[in-house]
Amino acid sequence: MKDRPIVSMEEMERQREYMRLVRAMGHRPHSYHIVSMGCQMNERDSESIAGMLSEMGMVAQPVREQADLILYNTCCVRENAENKALGNVIWLKELKKTRPELMICVGGCMTQEKDMAAMMKARYPFIDLVYGTHNLYKLPEYVYRVLTERRPVVEVMDIDGEVVEGMPELRRNHFNAFVNIMYGCDNFCTYCIVPYVRGRERSREPGAVVEECKRLRDEGAQEIMLLGQNVNSYRGGGAAFADLLYQVDRLGIPRIRFMTSHPKDLSDELIAAFGELEHLMPQLHLPVQSGSNEVLKRMNRRYTREHYLDLVKRLRAVKPEIGLTSDIIVGFPGETLEQFEETMSLVEAVRFDAAYTFIYSPRKGTRAAEYPDDTPYEVKSERIQRLIDLQQAISLEALTAQVGRRERVLVEAVSTRDAGSVGGKTPRGHMVNFPGDASLIGHFVDAEITSAGRNTLRGRRIITEA
Ligand code: SAH
Ligand code: SF4
Ligand code: F3S
Repeated sequence: MKDRPIVSMEEMERQREYMRLVRAMGHRPHSYHIVSMGCQMNERDSESIAGMLSEMGMVAQPVREQADLILYNTCCVRENAENKALGNVIWLKELKKTRPELMICVGGCMTQEKDMAAMMKARYPFIDLVYGTHNLYKLPEYVYRVLTERRPVVEVMDIDGEVVEGMPELRRNHFNAFVNIMYGCDNFCTYCIVPYVRGRERSREPGAVVEECKRLRDEGAQEIMLLGQNVNSYRGGGAAFADLLYQVDRLGIPRIRFMTSHPKDLSDELIAAFGELEHLMPQLHLPVQSGSNEVLKRMNRRYTREHYLDLVKRLRAVKPEIGLTSDIIVGFPGETLEQFEETMSLVEAVRFDAAYTFIYSPRKGTRAAEYPDDTPYEVKSERIQRLIDLQQAISLEALTAQVGRRERVLVEAVSTRDAGSVGGKTPRGHMVNFPGDASLIGHFVDAEITSAGRNTLRGRRIITEA
């Protein structure tokens, strides 16, 4: 990994000047609504977007149709993500007819795809701004140009992306925070578009990460999630990911988690960290993708089933209660029934707390999109259904095993399904709902687990005598 330039202070100052200029304008949007699609990286970017828009004098408008500026932060990891984004954008055309002043912005991974911006410019001229993943920091300049030039701005940069420090931000809440430690990905798994739209791997300096975490701690963060497409290959200023974790752990933030980990790079030091670090939660998302060595090879994952199972064994030796979750792709080109059965048997053997399962979706420009694929979609659907059924039974078993335990829960939100309840996570990452109100959000509560549902636990609050 090469050192990447950091966007200069002067450039950030220029953008700050644009924010001031927009703010001073009379005929500008006064409210915004951001639709964030895809993964946590996009969610974190949306916090920067919210920060920039609010510095431009806009306030968040929860009702999309009423906002003066609507921004779609898109994902393209699978075709359905892309269709959803495009479908939404087309719908905005109707809204714009009734509200010509509405400003429509589309950015994120989908717009960074090859030829996508040109296609959007030609087919959707009602979109005011199209930008990509590498030039997000220029949003203030682009908004200013849309307002002054009064014509669409379409700008997607081809260069690989830099590390941008010091962008404004408006975080979702003060108690659990996402912290980027790196950007991009160099792994080129043959099915995956992320390396093409997020650029080459580049790490932030450990000092910058630690400073950000310290600031968040001082502002009341109870939990932080360190983010990267493959945090195990973090290399910032000579520090490996495990080194960074030790530094962050010392800050005393009650809970630390991270994602995502690539099995090929999960180091001995990182496994050991689960046994040593006080604040690192016993939870790990370790996508396996397939249980067949042949398929893993064609996916360019660069580990074997045996290596993966060995990692699981070693993680559990260090931390027996660790909660493991995974991503699995079904119906990769050429996957035979036998190879699929190997995924089933791996899932049986590992017993994940949860697994996110996807039917393979060909992505233009990736290597696997060229692979012959003769498995009918119906067969893939049947396979994924079998896998989902199996995983659900295992998840239920894992959740049922929690009943009767006392767990410390960081309350995150009022439950949308259970009236009068709030929900939050245990150290292992299980969601628990129990009676309570919004005043508990952001606080730790001790709960006794009373029952297990399909995806969540129910509990009751234990009030301990002071
Ligand atoms: N960097 C992360 C994953 C990012 S994408 C990692 O390496 O684990 C999230 C998940 O989407 C992947 O783990 C994979 O399971 C799935 N995915 C990515 N590309 C896909 C495709 N073309 N079709 C189906 N699923 C895909
Ligand atoms: Fe995609 Fe593989 Fe990189 Fe994950 S590690 S983002 S799956 S290329
Ligand atoms: Fe994330 Fe989707 Fe981009 S998964 S990195 S938002 S393609």
